[in-house]
Amino acid sequence: MKVAIIAFSPSGNTLKVSRWLEKSLVAQNCKVQRVNLARDRKLFDGRNVRQYLKKTIKEHDLLCVGSPVYAHHMHYNVKNIIKALPHPKNGWGKLAVPFVTYGGINSGIALQEGAKLLKKSGRIIVAGMKVNSSHCLSKLKQIKRTVNEGMPGDEALPLIEDLACRIKEFENKKPEDCADITHKLAYQSPKVKIKAHIIFREKVWQRHMYPKLIIDSDKCEGCGKCVKLCPVQRIELNGKGPFIPKGKPECIHCASCVRYCPTGAVYFDADWAKWNKLLSKAADGFGPMVSNEKPKSAVYPLTENGYEMDRRN
Ligand SMILES: Cc1cc2nc3c(=O)[nH]c(=O)nc-3n(C[C@H](O)[C@H](O)[C@H](O)COP(=O)(O)O)c2cc1C
Repeated sequence: MKVAIIAFSPSGNTLKVSRWLEKSLVAQNCKVQRVNLARDRKLFDGRNVRQYLKKTIKEHDLLCVGSPVYAHHMHYNVKNIIKALPHPKNGWGKLAVPFVTYGGINSGIALQEGAKLLKKSGRIIVAGMKVNSSHCLSKLKQIKRTVNEGMPGDEALPLIEDLACRIKEFENKKPEDCADITHKLAYQSPKVKIKAHIIFREKVWQRHMYPKLIIDSDKCEGCGKCVKLCPVQRIELNGKGPFIPKGKPECIHCASCVRYCPTGAVYFDADWAKWNKLLSKAADGFGPMVSNEKPKSAVYPLTENGYEMDRRN
């Protein structure tokens, strides 16, 4: 069976999961192509995405698409990529599996959103997976507590192996005999769904809620790490050092540049007391953004007993 895995992973969690999924699928004798979508400008300036995909993705039977959850949604860059996918024919498989990693707060409607878009592209959704992970913003040194430190780790492996086994089961099935399970990904309460649509407007939050990215040229030593790390190539380098040019693609606030800047020249202009309060509360399972979803990590459709691998329970 041929499987293609595409994943967008600004801070590495989704990438980790996609690598483990590849390994588990190879162990099931599947032929796997894994594509890391980060750090390729062609993908994020909104042009030629379909050509890129056609050129990059090889023939497959089943397509897995991985994304982080941002503000309760599948990341909009991944949604744009799904929208640009060619119709499933001429080597593009009819079966699809979305998967997401989220920072322990709320997986929102990301998985269902991904499934709906993949379905709209003509694919049949045969499984889905959400993996409870570390919150990338809570790894900044200004934040006192990391939410889900070290996750995804070994605790995620059984789940990923389970998904690989389920994928393998579709090897000899005709696509028309496979049932679509998109409706089984509607696991959130009506309240969370409404909040995701009305309050958690990813792009509005990106422009007005998340902290502004600043580069202090006096502190910068010009190592270029921020330029290399930016998943959407938002930062450019000229003779004077890194700078944030006008226009697209916009900063997605993944914090990779801030985390790894050796001199602190790249930083967020943020109210850290507020963010600390919000993320500490979230780490304890409280606060305005937290969901009580159970299980915290899962492969869908859920098996009879469900699958619970939350460390805190
Ligand atoms: C701007 C932003 C918004 C986020 N929103 C959420 C969220 O709504 N719920 C959540 O649980 N985690 C949220 N996270 C955390 C990420 O989903 C989590 O760290 C994810 O595993 C990151 O994946 P990556 O390492 O592949 O980039 C957010 C992170 C960022 C940077």
